[in-house]
Amino acid sequence: MKILVVFYSRTGNTRKAAKIMAEVLNADVDEVIDKKNRRGILGFLRAGYDATRGKTTEIEFQRDPSDYDLVVIGSPTWNSRVTPAIRTYLMKNGEKIKKAAFFTTCAGRSRKCLSQMEEILGKKPLKAGILLQKSLERDAREFAEELKKGTA
Ligand SMILES: Cc1cc2nc3c(=O)[nH]c(=O)nc-3n(C[C@H](O)[C@H](O)[C@H](O)COP(=O)(O)O)c2cc1C
Repeated sequence: MKILVVFYSRTGNTRKAAKIMAEVLNADVDEVIDKKNRRGILGFLRAGYDATRGKTTEIEFQRDPSDYDLVVIGSPTWNSRVTPAIRTYLMKNGEKIKKAAFFTTCAGRSRKCLSQMEEILGKKPLKAGILLQKSLERDAREFAEELKKGTA
């Protein structure tokens, strides 16, 4: 099975989780770049606002998800919600994603992020999970190993 792990990351947590998952799943990795400046205090405030308002953004990514049997998609949680970058990715690529799995990284609480991802894609994921910042590496490994068993 050909697997792609796609992620957006502002401060590195989701990138770290995605890399661990790709290693366990023997998958390719693609980073979604948000062209909007999300740095600094203003970037932080705008990030929360944009996520809450369900805004899209301008993104860049490299790989074509239609080349893969399974696409694992990771977003940080912002104000309990999915990031504009991953919202936009899902909206652009819905038709091209055959099977999906979702994960989000957060500091402690992610109420709506995963359900929003499912709603935007319009497909039930094979697996969806919340990875906590404090146990990120363990959570990422466990998620990927369970997913691997499920797809074997
Ligand atoms: C604008 C903003 C809003 C956030 N909102 C939440 C939240 O609602 N719940 C939570 O547990 N963590 C929240 N966080 C923390 C991030 O989800 C967490 O640090 C995540 O792992 C960051 O991923 P990254 O390093 O890949 O960018 C928020 C962070 C930012 C920047």
